[in-house]
Amino acid sequence: MIFRIAPSILSADFARLGEEVRNVIAAGGDLIHFDVMDNHYVPNLTIGPMVCKAIRPHIRVPIDVHLMVRPVDRLIPDFARAGADVISFHPEASEHVDRTLSLIRDHGCKAGLAFNPTTSLNYLDQAMSRIDLVLIMLVNPGFSGQLFIPEVLNKLRDARQRINIYSARTGRQIHLEVDGGVKSSNIAQIAEAGADTFVAGSAIFNQSDYQQVIYEMRCALVSLNEK
Ligand code: DX5
Ligand code: ZN
Repeated sequence: MIFRIAPSILSADFARLGEEVRNVIAAGGDLIHFDVMDNHYVPNLTIGPMVCKAIRPHIRVPIDVHLMVRPVDRLIPDFARAGADVISFHPEASEHVDRTLSLIRDHGCKAGLAFNPTTSLNYLDQAMSRIDLVLIMLVNPGFSGQLFIPEVLNKLRDARQRINIYSARTGRQIHLEVDGGVKSSNIAQIAEAGADTFVAGSAIFNQSDYQQVIYEMRCALVSLNEK
């Protein structure tokens, strides 16, 4: 299994964002997770396409945009133009999930579907062929620094099973990403439940040595691969 670590810049120092994204990628991050909140779909307000465009020249790795906004469609072309590589959204926030997935791909990005702790995975049934990434929220979206909800690991296992069945049938890979409360002390347990991509905000940016934290996360994942 190839594991990827996606530092979430929600916990970064916004006054030094260019430097922060360069540093966290130099420290071993595989992609930049970019949280977009609108104070409608979630009770918080963050950053938009202008900030995505501003950080794009600072890094070569993919920018993984997580839209926690409603409505969704209006922002997709803007994020594609701003250099997003992956765009995920929550199915409840779109009037037409299928149309939104197509819109993301038509703009040259990979499409992700994000599931809150209580959102049914049944949305996947009809959409798998148009999805490149499944994002399982381990917390309710809106804030960094929350504790992960252990019951969500069952949903993660379920998502892994659905993806494996689909991949065996079609040969197409779909990433399984988790978001919320990931730390070096619980990353192995979460990986064991099926995740391959790990968003981590406060666990990385609240420490002074990003390299050390990412190294600890990788060590925990390596020991799992060796089991
Ligand atoms: C929460 C966001 C997360 C957040 C994760 O709604 O989607 O990406 O930044 O932060 P931590 O890792 O601190 O839980
Ligand atoms: Zn996120």
